[in-house]
This record gives sequence, C-alpha cells and structure tokens, in this order.
Amino acid sequence: MNKILPVDKLEIGMEVVAVDKSWLETNILFHRFRIQTKDDIQKLRDNGIKNVTITLPGPATATSPHPANSDTLPVDDDRDIPEIREMEVLPLPTLREWNALHDKTIAVLSKSFEDIRMGSALDVTPLRSQVIETLEMLVKDPRKNSFLVTLSEIDDESYVHSTNTMILSMGLAAQSGVAKEDLPKWGLAALLHDIGKALIPLEILKKPGKLAPHEWDTMKRHPKFGHSILSKSKDDIVRGICTTVAMEHHERKGGGGYPYGLDLPDLDPVTRSLMVLDIYEALTAGRIYRSPLSPAKTLAYLLEKELHRLDPRAIANLVQMVGIYPVGSFVELADGRVAMVSAYENADTNSGEVRLLVLYSSPGKPLPEPAKLTLPAIDRTRVRQTFHPRELGLSPSDVARHLEESSEGHRH
Ligand SMILES: [Fe+2]
Repeated sequence: MNKILPVDKLEIGMEVVAVDKSWLETNILFHRFRIQTKDDIQKLRDNGIKNVTITLPGPATATSPHPANSDTLPVDDDRDIPEIREMEVLPLPTLREWNALHDKTIAVLSKSFEDIRMGSALDVTPLRSQVIETLEMLVKDPRKNSFLVTLSEIDDESYVHSTNTMILSMGLAAQSGVAKEDLPKWGLAALLHDIGKALIPLEILKKPGKLAPHEWDTMKRHPKFGHSILSKSKDDIVRGICTTVAMEHHERKGGGGYPYGLDLPDLDPVTRSLMVLDIYEALTAGRIYRSPLSPAKTLAYLLEKELHRLDPRAIANLVQMVGIYPVGSFVELADGRVAMVSAYENADTNSGEVRLLVLYSSPGKPLPEPAKLTLPAIDRTRVRQTFHPRELGLSPSDVARHLEESSEGHRH
C-alpha cells in the first residue's frame, strides 16, 4: 500500500517510490529508494520536494515498481529512470569487432589531425567511412553496452575521446528517435568537434596537469579554430552541422560558456547532446592526471553539478541509454564483496535478474576464484559504491575476459 507523506514526516527506513517533482527538476538520481540517513531527507527538501509517496510494507506492493493504487501521486512513467534494464552481453566476437573498429577510427582521426597540423586540407572521406561502419554496428541495437564499447586500450586522449563521443552521440540520437538517415551527421559532428585542437601547440595540448591561465586562453581558441578548418570544406555536412557543433560545444545554458556566451535555445540539438557526452566521456575514460569514474558516479555528478549548465533532456536520455550499473561496471555490495555486472535478463519483468561475477571479497582483496551470483535486481540501497574497472586495476581486455568467464554455463 502506498501513502503520500509531507517530507517533514519522513523517517529513516521508509521506502520512497515517487516524489512530487519531475525527475528533470531535481538532482536525485533515483526517485525510488530507501531513506538511510537524515541527509537523504534533507536532499529532498533541498530539491524543493514537499510531498513524497512511500510504500508501506505489505505483500501486495512489495514487488510492484509502479503500484496502481489510488493513494499514489499521479506519476508520469517518463519520470522514473529504471534502475535495471534489459541489456544483453555483447558476444565476445562482437566485442573484438568493436575494438578493431574503434582502433581503426582512432588511427584515421589521428591522421586527419596530422594533415591539418601539416597545413593540408581535411579529407573527410575516410572519417565518414568510419562513422558509417560504426553506425552499422550500432543500429543492431543502439543501447547495447555503450559503456563496454567505449572502454579503450589506447591511451591517446584526444582521439579516443572524439571516437567515443561519436559512438555515444549516434547511440543517444538513435534512442531519442532521430531518423536513421540523420545519424551519420550526429556521428561526424561528434568525431570532428575538437578538430580545432589540431592548431593548438602540442606543448599545451599534451601538457600533463593544469594549464596556466595564458595557456588556457590559447586552449579556449579551439572552437574558433575548428570553425575555420571545417567551414572551408567542400562537404555540405562538414560545412554545416560539423562546423556549428565545433563552434558551439563549449557554450553553456545561461550563456556561461565560450566563445560567444550563447544560451541553450540558441544551440543546435546535436550540440546540446554533445555537451553532455563531452563531459560524460571525459570523466568515465579518465585522464593521465585523473582516475576514471564509474558510469553511476559520473551520472550522479552530471545531475548534481552540471544540470544547471546543460540540457536536462540530453542527460535523461544518457541515463536511459547507459543505465546506472551498465554491463562491465563494478559494484560494492552491502557485505563488502565487489562484483562485475555481467548481464541483465528480462529486466522489465518481475522475474528479471542481474548476473554478477564476484571478483573481490572486499575492495582490494581478490578472490582466488571468481564466483557467479544472480540477484533478482541490484538493490541500490545495498550498493555501497561503484567502481570503474580501471579503479580496480583492470584493463578493458580484463573486463572482456571476465565477461567470457561469466557467460560460460549461462549460454543456452
Ligand atoms: Fe572541446
């Protein structure tokens, strides 16, 4: 049974199933959770939430995610971000195919940067082929394991970053209902958004750590450099949307970005989406001077720190595409065990399951033998923290190997 309560009447232990504000108006990642501390209640107040729906213990409501009870606040289904989603594991040969395509795209992009540094014109043909090939892989299922396909063994941040944002950009566009014939535009614009960096001196571009103020001023010229490189192209798409996105991608909602201080409604939808992916990719990939963050931590960061500067709809689409605990990410369970999420099965039904491969008895203590564990769902209140595989010292190929291990015996 559900009951609507004012926030002031909430107590620790109560299970919240809905709040009186749209998901996009708050920075709370889940609208269904158990209150664990007074801070959780304060967070609801801080977000301007006055009333919440709680579920009272009872067999009738225990397993139903959206109880159709007259006491429930009217809830638009779109508001709730699913905690667990159906996500098939990519078969290993597909994962290897992705890696090969990813590496080739990075090589092609690196050659394009080199050409521009040498003063040659941009040859868009090989780049476009990479985008089309990526799209062909993606359309088989645009939501499938976007986290896995953007894990890279290669360490060159500019090219890896642009390649990953290209994959994510087309996935996100496909998921938001953009027509298939328009997807290459989204991909090419993402792949070329930082091309202006080809004209930034390498000692600034490759400098580890923070830039000095004058170096930062130089770096901030890359959107205009991108515009000048791409606007000379003979290709309509490059001269059009790619030039626009290269110019706009550091603008921010409210006009707080650069180079022109444009506001969100002035920006192209491709840019509004890319602005979110630009940050998401940078944080999940990590950089020489910064550890990578897990998808869950990155999504929480976007909602808590960046929501006011970005397009909330683009963030919501990203959360839906990536999922909170995507396949290949790691969770620390309440008992301290650390496990890799290896598959979701029938997640949209009550009999949905999540498969985990337990690799550590506690953080830093590997088990002699990985153990398989199947749960009805990942209970967010029982996840202490999440990890990016690299935080545990695991490379993308280690993740692929563990996925292979975990799928043995599960194949029908
Ligand atoms: Fe940039």
